Amino acid sequence: AETRPLVPVIWLHGQACTGCSAAFLNAGEPSAAEAILNIMRLEYHGLFSAASGVELEHHREKVMREFRGNYLLIAEGAVPAGDQGYFCSVGGVPYGEILKAAAKQAAAVLAIGSCAVWGGIQAARPNPTQAAATQQVITNKPVVKIPGCPPIPEVIAGVVLHYSLFGQLPALDSQGRPTRFFGKTVHAGCSRKSFFEAGQFAEYYGDKGAKAGWCLYKLGCRGPSTFNSCAALGWWQGLSNPIQAGSPCIGCSEADFWDDDPISGFD
Ligand code: SF4
Ligand code: SF4
Ligand code: F3S
Repeated sequence: AETRPLVPVIWLHGQACTGCSAAFLNAGEPSAAEAILNIMRLEYHGLFSAASGVELEHHREKVMREFRGNYLLIAEGAVPAGDQGYFCSVGGVPYGEILKAAAKQAAAVLAIGSCAVWGGIQAARPNPTQAAATQQVITNKPVVKIPGCPPIPEVIAGVVLHYSLFGQLPALDSQGRPTRFFGKTVHAGCSRKSFFEAGQFAEYYGDKGAKAGWCLYKLGCRGPSTFNSCAALGWWQGLSNPIQAGSPCIGCSEADFWDDDPISGFD
């Protein structure tokens, strides 16, 4: 059988809590080890790489030269525009500058996590660092958006695998998200949907309805307006998802979910 070379990947971190990377480590199928060893050729990652500091930065530059036009760039975290970008810098260079340089030579950019896709918590009011989304900075390259806080790890691996197998990006929706994973709402596949349809709602946490698995809509569930694959793929190696575990969906894959959260009552 024909063997294809693994796609080289540079995985950058901007204004991130690194939860997207942590989620990736908890992937089920493929596991993180499988994804890193058999799906992508992960050349640069601030946490997973064995090297660090100047050596790692030099290696990134070498990979950018050697695989010019052929590597995928994964961007995790928002991009600070304030204070000339110095709110987040690596090796003394503002993240935005590193991102732009790496994107210039990349085949495509994958913005992973709601911070990279929408600005996320960094961009929440009053946005003191003027955090921006990846595609506000990278305008001359396709940017695949994989939102979620964190994003579903199997979705990240799935997009890289698709690119590696077919040599092109998967079908994207009008917002740049892979249709395969963001084509349906969380509500569409929810395990509590039959209760929604029957009008059976939990009224408060721990009440009879909540314990019986009734719908969490009255507790602020945003599943009906949130596009993500949580119901189909699950979390923690497919074990469960927030709603199955008893929490309403807070819409973590949607834009401005921090500012717009009916549960926190901030708005
Ligand atoms: Fe952390 Fe969420 Fe941002 Fe990922 S999207 S870096 S998990 S805050
Ligand atoms: Fe829809 Fe949320 Fe109710 Fe599930 S819990 S059926 S996603 S409203
Ligand atoms: Fe996020 Fe809602 Fe899924 S909060 S993890 S999109 S169930």
